[in-house]
Amino acid sequence: MLLESGPKLLHPWQDEPIDYRCAAMRFSREPGQAAPGIVLPDRIARAAPRRRAEWLAGRRCASEALRLLTGQGACPGMASDRSPLWPVGIVGSISHSGDVAIAIAARAGACRGIGVDIERLMDGQGASEVASEALTPRERRRLGNDPFSVTLAFSAKESLFKALHPLLRRPISFQLSELVAWNGQGTARLRLVEGLSSEFPAGREIEARFARFGDLLLTRVLIPA
Ligand SMILES: CC(C)(COP(=O)(O)OP(=O)(O)OC[C@H]1O[C@@H](n2cnc3c(N)ncnc32)[C@H](O)[C@@H]1OP(=O)(O)O)[C@@H](O)C(=O)NCCC(=O)NCCS
Repeated sequence: MLLESGPKLLHPWQDEPIDYRCAAMRFSREPGQAAPGIVLPDRIARAAPRRRAEWLAGRRCASEALRLLTGQGACPGMASDRSPLWPVGIVGSISHSGDVAIAIAARAGACRGIGVDIERLMDGQGASEVASEALTPRERRRLGNDPFSVTLAFSAKESLFKALHPLLRRPISFQLSELVAWNGQGTARLRLVEGLSSEFPAGREIEARFARFGDLLLTRVLIPA
């Protein structure tokens, strides 16, 4: 992966249905100075250094993704539910794991919702703990505690949440969707177990993309306009 000290363009998948920009960086646990144009909300300014560092790294990536997409960088604000507030006409998503942050931004005219998630691949024990929380009984029977499959299911569901929550503004639990398939080209499918709205009825399948970078797994879900 990229893994420089500043955000860099990341282009993990070919043949994407819409145009978007994704930027990622490695960051240090010490937050240091905020980058120009990035103002910390009070609750982040008061947070532990580790939280400040990840928030700042996510915002630096978001600003770079926006700059690459529109020519103008900007720091998304933060809503009371913690979701990022993107500039008018933009949808996007942020994730961090360990010392890596990533953000993705697309034009709202092309994309109604987008979610990105990065996770360290779980070990057997982590997979077994996460499986009992985040997988449906049917997924647990099919996937068992296989670390890759459990990490993929968990991460794809996090990406789905980030893509749909700003759109639907309703609770979306891990039990509302299931990972039903994936292939060697980095494409997976989630199926909604319960209906979320008339547009997202039970049984609707939503594509996710995934890519592995060493021990990191990246997923993204997008809902085209
Ligand atoms: C919000 C949530 C997805 C964040 O996960 P996390 O473990 O902190 O991991 P990540 O680093 O990948 O993502 C954090 C980023 O998600 C974004 N985020 C937070 N709430 C969000 C929301 N409601 N909608 C969209 N994005 C959101 C933020 O940008 C946040 O980073 P920041 O606080 O530094 O800005 C997760 O904690 C959560 O609450 N999940 C709800 C249940 C769920 O995932 N259901 C999935 C079933 S479909």
